[in-house]
Order: sequence, then C-alpha cells, then structure tokens
Amino acid sequence: MKKGHVLKPVKKAVFPVGGMGTRFLPATKAVPKEMLPVVDRPLLQYAVDEALAAGIEQMIFVTGRGKAALEDYFDVAAELENLLRARGKEVELRVLEGTRLSPGSIAYVRQQEPAGLGHAVWCARHITGDEPFAVLLPDELLWNPTDPCLAQMVRARNEVGGTVIAVMEVPEKETHRYGIVDPGASHGALTEVKGFVEKPKPGTAPSRLAAVGRYLIEPECMALLAEGRRGAGGEIQLTDALAQLIGRQPFHAYTYSGARFDCGDKAGHVTANIALALARPDIGPAVRAWLDANVR
Ligand code: G1P
Repeated sequence: MKKGHVLKPVKKAVFPVGGMGTRFLPATKAVPKEMLPVVDRPLLQYAVDEALAAGIEQMIFVTGRGKAALEDYFDVAAELENLLRARGKEVELRVLEGTRLSPGSIAYVRQQEPAGLGHAVWCARHITGDEPFAVLLPDELLWNPTDPCLAQMVRARNEVGGTVIAVMEVPEKETHRYGIVDPGASHGALTEVKGFVEKPKPGTAPSRLAAVGRYLIEPECMALLAEGRRGAGGEIQLTDALAQLIGRQPFHAYTYSGARFDCGDKAGHVTANIALALARPDIGPAVRAWLDANVR
C-alpha cells in the first residue's frame, strides 16, 4: 500500500439473506434458510460470529419477505431468558449470549425483488455510506475456529488496501457455478486480480480460483452497482461491479486456509453437520461411533 495512505478499517458487514431457499423446500416454506441449523446453531450465526471475530461492529441484513424469524433470533427473548434463569439453567443462558449483539448494531433493509447479489448489496448503500464494508454470504460456511476467514482477510487488506475477496480452488468442472478470478502475480496467500468473471461458461474459466462468499469492498463499488447492469442469469452481479474496479484500486484474491462447506447445497449442508458434530466434545464420540459402525 502507498505510504501515507490511511486505510479506513472495515467496521460494517452486509449479509444478503433475502433468498427464498428453494433448494431446501419444504423446510424453507416456513423457516428462512439462514436459520437452518448446523448442529445446533443457525447458519447465519456462524457468519455473524466470523464478522465479530474480524472486528465488525455493524451488521446489515438485507432481508426479504418471510424473514421475520431472523429479527426475532437476534433480539432478546425476555420470557425465555427469565424462565431459564428461574430454573437455574445457566448453560442454556450462556448459549443464548451469541445471539445478542450490542443494541443498535444490527440494521435490516429489505430487498424488494430478487434481482441478484449485486442488487442485494446495493440495497445497503445508505447504511454503508462512504465506508469500506465486508460482504458475507452465510450459505458459505467457512470454518476455521482458530483463525476465521474474514479476520485473515482483514489482516491481508491491512497490507495491500483496496478490495480483497476470498478464493479457493474448485474443480474445473465446477467453475461455471462461481465468480472466477483471472490471476496475476502471487505473494503468499495474496494474488493480484487481473479479471473477475461471474459464472464463466464451461471451458472458458480463466482459472480455478473461485470466490467463496467473503468480500472486503471499497465504497466506490456502490456507484457501479447503482448502474444496474444485468449480467449472468439476467441478474445484477456483485462480481461485475467489482471487476470494474480492477486497475483503479488495489484488488487482490486471498486464498483462504480452512474448511469450506457449501451449505446452499443439501450435500454440503449435511457434510457441514457431520464435520462440525465430529469436532464437538459433547456429541462427537457418538457421531463417530455411528459412522464407524455404518460407513465404510
Ligand atoms: C454467488 C456469487 C459468486 C460466488 C458464489 C459463492 O453466487 O455471485 O460469484 O462465487 O456466490 O458461493 P451464487 O451462489 O449466489 O449463485
């Protein structure tokens, strides 16, 4: 980063949570997909915890119809807590602590139409203002309990400034499902981004480095999203707006080290449950015993 340039810290995070979750019907008929548990915590809680660990102070949820459960979840449940207190259920009370953020630190804004990820992020523009912000896609469970992904990225951004997106290598045959980076020079986990393309057609991907749902973004991105250009799938794509910033500001891909589960997918969601259950001292042994007896 240029000497003398003061990098504004990232204090705000945008969570696009307006999606209908059709892949998880019928469960998502009445429960937002972000509330589906991985072991005993909703998917969204993992992303919020990751943001907190990276120093984020304000969470902005871009919601939609039928997502009221999210607001209740991050609210104080006085009746429940009083009952637990009266019954001396200290463990259960402590478990609820992670659902309480400091007053005023969550904002909700509605995305009124499913016009794409870029559109969802743009819906938060009045709250992000002229500050850099993070975007976390809660479907992507990036699991590294000792050094969570967003904290890794914040450290990387402190070195280079500008836009930083988390990437991982995916198999060639899956590149059409992701935002794919055209890579330049690499220094450790950081790779310069020369191009960024949303869902390239099979056989045309510039690399196997795929965006995995974590972004540190400069405020200039919002003006580009405001143009409302439609990209892959006829949607306003975050990838396309970010791609326009290449060459204008530093732009790096950060190769995240840790586990990744695509919980927007049924197999990924089940796998996440198994992996995180195995890591738990309370239930891990029982789950392992079942797997040992039943899975070759
Ligand atoms: C979104 C992004 C894509 C990214 C992916 C990660 O796609 O548009 O660039 O690679 O998330 O999961 P979606 O999965 O919403 O189609």
